[in-house]
Amino acid sequence: CWACGLDQDFQELPDGIDTRVGNDGTALSGGQKNRISLARSVYSRRSLMVLDDVLAGLDTRTERLVFNRVLGPQGLLRKIGSAVVLATHAIGWLRYADTVLVIENGKLSYRGKPEDAPASFIRSHAGQPEYEAEDESDNTSPADIPMKTSRSSSVSSSITKRQANWQLYKSYFKSFGRFGFINFTFLIIGFSALQCVQQLVLKWWAGAEATSPSELGKWVGILGAITLIFVVDVFLTLWAGFIVYFPKSSLYLHLQQFTALVKVRYSAWGGKETGSITNRFSQDISIIDGQLANALLNVLAGIFDVIAMTSIIIVATPFIAATIPPLVAVFWIIQKIYLRTGKQLRIMDLEAKAPLCTHFLETVTGAATIKAFGWPKSYREKNDKLLEESQIPYYLLESVQNWLSLVLNLVVAGLATVTMAIVVKLRSTSDAGYVALALINIMDIGPILEMLVVAWTQLETSMGAIARMKEFMEDTPEEEQGKINPPSDWMTEGGITISRLEASYSDIAPSTIKDINLQIKPGQKIAICGRTGSGKSSLASAVFGLLHISSGHLKIDDVDVTQVSQELLRSKMIALPQDAYFTTGTVRENLSLRKTDTLQRKK
Ligand SMILES: Nc1ncnc2c1ncn2[C@@H]1O[C@H](COP(=O)(O)OP(=O)(O)OP(=O)(O)O)[C@@H](O)[C@H]1O
Ligand SMILES: [Mg+2]
Repeated sequence: CWACGLDQDFQELPDGIDTRVGNDGTALSGGQKNRISLARSVYSRRSLMVLDDVLAGLDTRTERLVFNRVLGPQGLLRKIGSAVVLATHAIGWLRYADTVLVIENGKLSYRGKPEDAPASFIRSHAGQPEYEAEDESDNTSPADIPMKTSRSSSVSSSITKRQANWQLYKSYFKSFGRFGFINFTFLIIGFSALQCVQQLVLKWWAGAEATSPSELGKWVGILGAITLIFVVDVFLTLWAGFIVYFPKSSLYLHLQQFTALVKVRYSAWGGKETGSITNRFSQDISIIDGQLANALLNVLAGIFDVIAMTSIIIVATPFIAATIPPLVAVFWIIQKIYLRTGKQLRIMDLEAKAPLCTHFLETVTGAATIKAFGWPKSYREKNDKLLEESQIPYYLLESVQNWLSLVLNLVVAGLATVTMAIVVKLRSTSDAGYVALALINIMDIGPILEMLVVAWTQLETSMGAIARMKEFMEDTPEEEQGKINPPSDWMTEGGITISRLEASYSDIAPSTIKDINLQIKPGQKIAICGRTGSGKSSLASAVFGLLHISSGHLKIDDVDVTQVSQELLRSKMIALPQDAYFTTGTVRENLSLRKTDTLQRKK
């Protein structure tokens, strides 16, 4: 770290060497990333090192320092005795190489000593800064460097106890659109009511058959009509659910979440893990699409079925109805016990996959480095471990669900036996038709109650996905919308006034930019210089509205940038970040910012 000049950076980082680097090292400056990566390769002490432009992006002083300490005549790699191949366009360093290879258009055009390199090549690269060995006399030796001790950073577990409450249901039902949930519920009520009416008609038909057997046509007609309406209602319910409302709801929630993602205030972005975000857009959405939708349908159907059946039983034979309250009570207690564990397991299941996702994404982006350092084995092992761990909550969830089914089945079996015994005992006192109807219903109500409890618990646990989404939308602070509306000709001049500016990468982080005073007149060309990690990119980001400004002013053409909508601010200027961004697609598409036609015309 001393050789790569990182000691000074560790002094400045909030937690020294233990500062969290964020996804893809976002919390580090460009030069810091380069030097940490170089230090990592030096630690490997391999006898052959192939370094591709590792000094690019460093300020001249740091470049010189790193070159001398790592690659120069007294550098670490000379001391270790490693063979080094350095690809660079900084020809000033060539004189320190044993052999120089010049490559032009993919072909080797020169191979030999640096002093014999073709003059034409040297000339074409003339004008570069002077490269000279550093005067080592003013250097601190590795032993003298006071290393900033790290503050213990506690990574709080995101698995907190969350409850699916009515607020959650409200936001879920809202996603069905206006009256969507009510319409859907009415279709399901129709479905249960028609089933009930069907049974009653059958009973009345059986009673009428005994007195006037000639009315066959009438009863078949009535029953046929009810069955037809029932089939239409089932069709409509399923169509409304699976074709209209459930997709609409998923799409709405997905879009809301995506909007929160793209509108996020940059200063609140740092801590988010890409894995957990990917998880929200993949796993959570698929739960809302599948399990949650099914569970909601089953719960609603179950509730209205139970109400319909209970009504029939009460009308038919009240003494059998007396068995329902204890049955409901037992089921209520069982689901309470189950839910306590089930909900937590579902949330753990949803969250256990985030580390796997993050690891996978990191492996994809860092494939070249992983191969270069010979890490594929350890990455595979870590992947296996994370995969294994991500399955644990799912396995436990399946186990407790099976436990639930077993217990509920046993309760239903016990109750059916008791009911049968009572009916047989009281057979002489009741109407046979109604007793039969009640018996059929009590036999049916058991499995339906069981389905209701299973669906209810599934609904409650699947609401975990909605809870996570809601939490994401609420915890992802939006960018300021702007307190003032600047005149339409704002930023036509482009003068910047910065006074006593303090800014940081998040509202809780220490200031990265401190007490900056600056006046840039319209049309001036300004260069910001400084050592790597000194805050050049941060200052540029502050002008672009990406940093949290804690005090001071940053005005462009006399308008305070914190007071206007950040979207408007950015629409008025162009700012290029240090790390270029590319979309997948052609060079043309990347050049034209998706306005392919315009570019084609201009070309
Ligand atoms: N997204 C971020 N979150 C938190 N801290 C950051 C972030 N980006 C940079 N920093 C920290 O802010 C400090 C200044 O970084 P900055 O990127 O502005 O430096 P720089 O002058 O542009 O350096 P370089 O020449 O290496 O690009 C560094 O200590 C860095 O660790
Ligand atoms: Mg920078």
